[in-house]
Amino acid sequence: MAKIMSDSEFGRSFFKMIVLLIVLTLLLILLGVWIGGSIDSKLRVQAEEYTQTVIAQRTQPVGSLNVGEIESAESAQAVEETVQVAQASKSGQEVYDTACYICHNPGLTGAPKPGDAENWKPRIDKGVETLYANAVGGFQGQVGIMPPKGGNLLLSDEEVKAAVDYLVNLVQ
Ligand code: HEC
Repeated sequence: MAKIMSDSEFGRSFFKMIVLLIVLTLLLILLGVWIGGSIDSKLRVQAEEYTQTVIAQRTQPVGSLNVGEIESAESAQAVEETVQVAQASKSGQEVYDTACYICHNPGLTGAPKPGDAENWKPRIDKGVETLYANAVGGFQGQVGIMPPKGGNLLLSDEEVKAAVDYLVNLVQ
C-alpha cells in the first residue's frame, strides 16, 4: 500500500525536488559555459596562429632567397653562410646610399662631401686604416662628429669599409 503523504510532507519533498532541479540547472549552465568557453578559446588560438602565419608571410623581406627544402643541419648551415655572404656583398655604394649619404651628400655638420678632393686629401693622408677605424668606431674631428658606422650599427665592419673605399676611390 502506498503511503499517503500529509500536506506538509508533500510540501517538503516538493521543495527538495525544486531545489534539486535548480542546482541541476545551474550545473548544466556552468557545464555549457565551460565547454563553450574552451571551444571558443581553441578557435581563438587557431585564429591567432593563422594571423601570425599570414603576417609572417606578408612581412617577409623582399629579397629573401628561395632555398627550397633544407635537408640536413649541414646544408642548413651552408645555406646560412650563402645568405650571409650575399648580405655582406652589398657594394660600397649601396652602403653609402643607405647609411652615409644623409650626412655626407649635403656635407652636414662638416661631413666631407663625396668627390670633394680638397676635403678628402688630408684625411686620406692619414691612411686608409685610420679612415676605416674612424668610420667603424666613430670619430670626433675638428668640424663635427662622425657616429660609429654612421649610426647604422646593423652594418658589418666590412660594409662600412666598402663604403669608405667607395668614398676614397671617388677622389683618387
Ligand atoms: C650623422 C652624420 C653622418 C653619417 C650618417 C655618416 N657620417 Fe661620416 N662623417 C660625418 C662628419 C660630421 C664627419 C667629419 C668629422 C670631422 O672631420 O670633424 C665624417 C667623417 C667621415 C670620414 C672621415 C674620417 C676621418 O678620419 O677624417 C669617413 C671615412 C666617413 N665619415 C665615413 C662614413 C661612412 C662610411 C658612413 C656610412 C656608413 C658615414 N660616414 C656616415 C658625419 C656622418
